[in-house]
Amino acid sequence: MDALFALHNRVSVNLLTEPAPTQKQLDNIIRAGLRACDHKNLRPWKFLIIEGDDREKFGELMVNAKEIQNELTECTEEEKTKLRSKPMRAPTIIVVIADIKTHDKVPEIEQIISAGASAQMMMTAAFSQGLGAIWRSGSLMFENRMHEGLGLTPQQKIVGFIYVGHIKASKRVPELNPADFASKWSG
Ligand SMILES: Cc1cc2nc3c(=O)[nH]c(=O)nc-3n(C[C@H](O)[C@H](O)[C@H](O)COP(=O)(O)O)c2cc1C
Repeated sequence: MDALFALHNRVSVNLLTEPAPTQKQLDNIIRAGLRACDHKNLRPWKFLIIEGDDREKFGELMVNAKEIQNELTECTEEEKTKLRSKPMRAPTIIVVIADIKTHDKVPEIEQIISAGASAQMMMTAAFSQGLGAIWRSGSLMFENRMHEGLGLTPQQKIVGFIYVGHIKASKRVPELNPADFASKWSG
């Protein structure tokens, strides 16, 4: 697919289905993430891939993190079922992590932005291979229990969960006018 076509036409897809991306497709996605702009080439990125039955373990981790977030109040069965179903919405989940390095010229915010850029690159790489993807977040990604369960270090922060799979249903590209967003500044 032409790069500009992909950049202009990517949409998020929340209705995803099996099969999971092939290893080749997944490699292409990750390689795109590795081309994010990156001040001082710190490579402040880590990606965790969650697939198959491991999604159930991830659902349990969500329940656990939610209970800690709720000050150790047990989730109702309904809440547990809802949380456990979340990771099943796509065959593959990529956890995008900013792996913050200590650097005198590159503050944490720039490294988080770079990790966000890598997420966007991966979204476009998924689209350009005919796959669907959606970038999701939520308050649980800021919970210590979630970080612990994913094995993150204190220097690592989650910037999002990219759900990837085949497209069950897609949507139209919204029509936006560049002139509404960009204007010349002439002093
Ligand atoms: C940092 C970030 C977090 C997001 N979190 C969620 C989320 O938790 N759930 C959701 O439905 N969309 C979330 N979105 C928005 C979607 O990923 C998507 O961009 C939005 O629905 C617009 O659709 P489009 O990408 O097709 O324009 C998030 C986007 C960003 C950039």
